[in-house]
Amino acid sequence: MNKTKIAGIGHYLPEKVIRNKDLEKKMDTSDEWIRERTGIEERRFGRRFEENTTILGAKAAEKAIENAGIAKEEIDFIIFATLSPDYFFPGCGVLLQRELGITGTEIGALDVRNQCSGFIYGLSVADQFIKTGHYSKILLVGSEMHSMGLDFTTRGRDVSVIFGDGAGAVVLCAAEEGDSSEILNTQLHSDGTYAEELAFECPGAHGGVFSDEKDFGFSEDPWSPIFITDKMLKDGKTFPYMNGKLVFKTAVQKFPEVILKTLEKAGKSPEELKLLVPHQANLRISQFVQKRLRLRDDQVFSNIQKYGNTTAASVPIALSEACEQGRVERGDLVCLAAFGSGFTWGAALLQW
Ligand code: ACO
Repeated sequence: MNKTKIAGIGHYLPEKVIRNKDLEKKMDTSDEWIRERTGIEERRFGRRFEENTTILGAKAAEKAIENAGIAKEEIDFIIFATLSPDYFFPGCGVLLQRELGITGTEIGALDVRNQCSGFIYGLSVADQFIKTGHYSKILLVGSEMHSMGLDFTTRGRDVSVIFGDGAGAVVLCAAEEGDSSEILNTQLHSDGTYAEELAFECPGAHGGVFSDEKDFGFSEDPWSPIFITDKMLKDGKTFPYMNGKLVFKTAVQKFPEVILKTLEKAGKSPEELKLLVPHQANLRISQFVQKRLRLRDDQVFSNIQKYGNTTAASVPIALSEACEQGRVERGDLVCLAAFGSGFTWGAALLQW
């Protein structure tokens, strides 16, 4: 059985900076409220009509491929994690393949729909494929263009102030003999009980079946489409919904649990961690996790202040920045962890 390593990493953030003060002009919110509750000071928004989720992902992917020192033609599998896909279908994986100019080959492309934990899920899938030798060079991308679909009125302020655009990518391959880098283990979990507590339900094919609220404006006519209705648009149902308190309460429980599980599996303890790179959901969540695991400030990476929550992109962006800043070196023990919609959560323990 092979061992998997991250051979290259890169990230891309759009240039346009949106400060909390800019949001104050669009909705009833304040810089103070946003900083106090989330730690966020600013976020990036992609350029409309020029950038989208695939394009941000491709820019990050190019950097990761270059960092890995391989040619893009060597990639034999793509995994793309996002909750803001460019199309409902096809997924961003094939769009990225086209954007990178590596069509016409025998490669496969998989889309991961696990929101904030999408990158960890994708990493685990890639790890299994590399270990078994099924694929040899996998490109894993987490990318989001949230700014395309948020409600920037006061109605949507509890959600829209949190999210930002960006992308991160890694190239995975088999570790060579004597290599100090490897993925030690990954842990994936889910609990669908709370599916609608952090969700983007419309448009969708659910037909109102899961919801107590039946009034989505569906017609009695069985031949009329119910994917999207005028009423959904009018009532603002075509925006994400988040039960912030429940998400917070569950996240601060699941993060430490899954981090301890991945450490325990490898016979390691929190003190041995060089760096924990948590999904950048909310600074208060990360601080809570740090306290619970008794980690020092230098053991926990945070960049949510600058980029907001970039969901599937947040872990690879953070890991890539941590590398650039020299916070991790080859062989260091690094834990990646995420929690999000579904609920789904997971962790990966690496020797960087
Ligand atoms: N600006 C100003 N006021 C606001 C805003 C805003 N952007 N959003 C909500 N408020 C108001 C509310 O309307 C409410 O007003 P009221 O008291 O008059 O009713 C008041 O602020 C408090 O609202 P709460 O929702 O109770 O605020 P809370 O303290 O729970 O903080 C928050 C909200 C920050 C979302 C919090 O619940 C939280 O951090 N939850 C975790 C969710 C999270 O981090 N999600 C990240 C995305 S999901 C993921 O990645 C896992």
